[in-house]
Amino acid sequence: MKEQLNSILENARAELEKSADVKSLEELRVRFLGKKGELTAILKQMGGLSAEERPVIGQLANSVRQQIEQKIAERGEKLRSEAAALRLASEKIDVTLPGKDIPVGRPHPLNAVLDEVKEIFLGMGFDIVDGPEVETDHYCFEALNMPKSHPARDTQDTFYINDNVVLRTQTSSVQIRTMEKRKPPIRIISPGRVYRSDAVDATHSPLFHQIEGLVVDKGITLSDLYGTLDLLMKKLYGKDTQIRLRPHHFPYTEPSAEVDLMCFNCGGKGCPMCKNEGYVELLGAGMVHPDVLRGCGIDPEVYSGFAFGIGLERITMGRYGINDMRLLYENDMRFLGQF
Ligand code: DAH
Repeated sequence: MKEQLNSILENARAELEKSADVKSLEELRVRFLGKKGELTAILKQMGGLSAEERPVIGQLANSVRQQIEQKIAERGEKLRSEAAALRLASEKIDVTLPGKDIPVGRPHPLNAVLDEVKEIFLGMGFDIVDGPEVETDHYCFEALNMPKSHPARDTQDTFYINDNVVLRTQTSSVQIRTMEKRKPPIRIISPGRVYRSDAVDATHSPLFHQIEGLVVDKGITLSDLYGTLDLLMKKLYGKDTQIRLRPHHFPYTEPSAEVDLMCFNCGGKGCPMCKNEGYVELLGAGMVHPDVLRGCGIDPEVYSGFAFGIGLERITMGRYGINDMRLLYENDMRFLGQF
């Protein structure tokens, strides 16, 4: 019996040492120490022993049990710490690694400038109105004092959908739509796309954007136009910026003016950018023609107004020093990422 007990102990030690995880360890515990285990089986035979032998074998059996239990505890401890170490290693996070660069979107330069312009005009009490890009000849030309035979039509190469329907060449069409619907006082801007059958180059595109402005009320004068545009440009380009009005002709304004901006490159001294003029041409404007007012049911004896049309591309390019309009449409991230 002694030998059997000793061999159980030895066997258990060897098997336990080999056990690879907590589960197999438990199986071994059942096999050696469990109710139907090897040790129990031996103890059941103790009844056949003599009175002298019994305590000796009893002691030995207890010591064997204790040693196996201790071995199981030690082995369990070791297996658990090994497993924990493995898990730690596999879950390790190197907090010193550089983070992933998550690209963040930002407004397109055209939208950024448009948003600024809208803010400025909203601050002056203007409404922002919208108009259709597919427009009738009436709103795009006729009602703006440009009958079919008018030579000014030639300056705007028009995409015709049919004899009477065009892709609008100018946002000025929204002036008419607005005056037909609203009565003075009117203070609106209308930004949007316009289309002209132009070949693409650094300063032309068949699709570009304008911001139309219209103010109609009693006692509106050219100095209101000047003050409004002067404020706009000072806010966009800095407080030292100056504008100048140059006589021009548009069929729907009288008098008409082209508005120049002091060259943002040389500050008015003259440089290659402004072709030594000191100023760059910026937009068209004027006092709304009495015939246009009358056509919309507004009495020009009572009311007067001013209007202007700004090229959004032009003021954006000036604002950021962009020298090729195509950059604004190509969606090249190397370009757009700079704003
Ligand atoms: N429609 C003109 C253009 O496309 C710009 C313009 C000029 C708009 C004078 C106006 C204006 O409202 O009064 O070039």
